[in-house]
Amino acid sequence: MNKIKTAILGATGAVGQRFVQLLENHAWFEVTALTGSDRTIGQTYAEGCRWILPTPMPEYAKAMQVAPTEPGFDAQLAFSALPSDTAKVAEPALAAAGYAVCSNASSHRMWPDVPLLIPTVNPEHTQLIETQKKTRNWSGYIVTNPNCTSTGLTTALKALQNKFGLRRAFVVSMQALSGAGYPGVASLDILDNVIPYISGEEEKVESEPRKMLGQFNAGEIALAPVRFSAHTNRVAVSDGHTVCASVEFEREVSPEEASAALADYQAPAIVQTLPSAPHCVIEVRSEPDRPQPRKDRDAGNGMTTVVGRVRADPLLHLKFVVLSHNTIAGAAGGAILNGELLVAQGWVK
Ligand SMILES: NC(=O)c1ccc[n+]([C@@H]2O[C@H](COP(=O)([O-])OP(=O)(O)OC[C@H]3O[C@@H](n4cnc5c(N)ncnc54)[C@H](OP(=O)(O)O)[C@@H]3O)[C@@H](O)[C@H]2O)c1
Repeated sequence: MNKIKTAILGATGAVGQRFVQLLENHAWFEVTALTGSDRTIGQTYAEGCRWILPTPMPEYAKAMQVAPTEPGFDAQLAFSALPSDTAKVAEPALAAAGYAVCSNASSHRMWPDVPLLIPTVNPEHTQLIETQKKTRNWSGYIVTNPNCTSTGLTTALKALQNKFGLRRAFVVSMQALSGAGYPGVASLDILDNVIPYISGEEEKVESEPRKMLGQFNAGEIALAPVRFSAHTNRVAVSDGHTVCASVEFEREVSPEEASAALADYQAPAIVQTLPSAPHCVIEVRSEPDRPQPRKDRDAGNGMTTVVGRVRADPLLHLKFVVLSHNTIAGAAGGAILNGELLVAQGWVK
């Protein structure tokens, strides 16, 4: 098959760089455009980007010229790593101009006609694209992936929702520094410290999983009737968001039943064959001190959700710890999987 021409919007940032890395030699996508802000437009990618990943900057990107983030670049598909205020204006303009936009930004996630996707959880929600194109009269469209803390949490909750039903969840996050972009949090603020506030994050963790765990019916999503209370914290970890969750179900659930439901969880059939899909959606660790970000964030090339410490909770039914890679599964890798899903479902040709 001819590769699909693909742009990366905000290609010089923390998430943009992950896109550049993960799309090197991608089986279906060829990167044909990289965009940035006024700071970098017109420079080569190598000149404009301060590369922060441990692997070398891919050769293919080095000499590409950074383009403006507006219609005109040569691509069908656009992966967006734009800040949300920029995405608010740029992404609808690109969708109206015919591009398929897979966004990481929060700007449009909760729009009722925009799919909020984790392909291993709710691939059927792409049906909202029809509603979106009809109501907005766009030739393109926007799909989104959730905030990076919701990714692993929602994946684990989906496996449990399917078997036991969900009522309430109380969650506490310990979020990595790369989640704040580059340069992110000042070193003097975070070294030897924990910051118990991430602007807007608790609201996202309390709302986004409800949409993804909701039902698509008659052109819209009915939010899942589960309620969340979230505390979100920034910690001195480079990559990998950890979430401690206590959950109430529709009935009593033993740790053994829950562990089996998590370990047995399979992605829907259409997702299993996508190039970036993890072989194992959820890995369950039995050691008392796992998961840990440094040891477990790269499971399944950063696309597997790792769960551990599944045990009874004296207040709600069950508690456990979830870990997922925030810039791979929680950002660029998740968006690329969305793009692959769109191809497999015929939304991108
Ligand atoms: N980091 C994570 O783990 C994570 C996870 C999920 C979602 N997200 C979301 O992903 C998005 C990107 O996050 P990030 O962490 O990569 O941020 P970042 O490191 O600050 O990078 C921002 C990128 O956007 C570009 N940009 C800034 N202003 C622009 C403008 N006016 N027009 C065009 N491009 C502009 C920058 O280009 P220049 O270098 O040219 O200025 C840079 O490439 C955000 O919406 C964030 O909330 C991040």
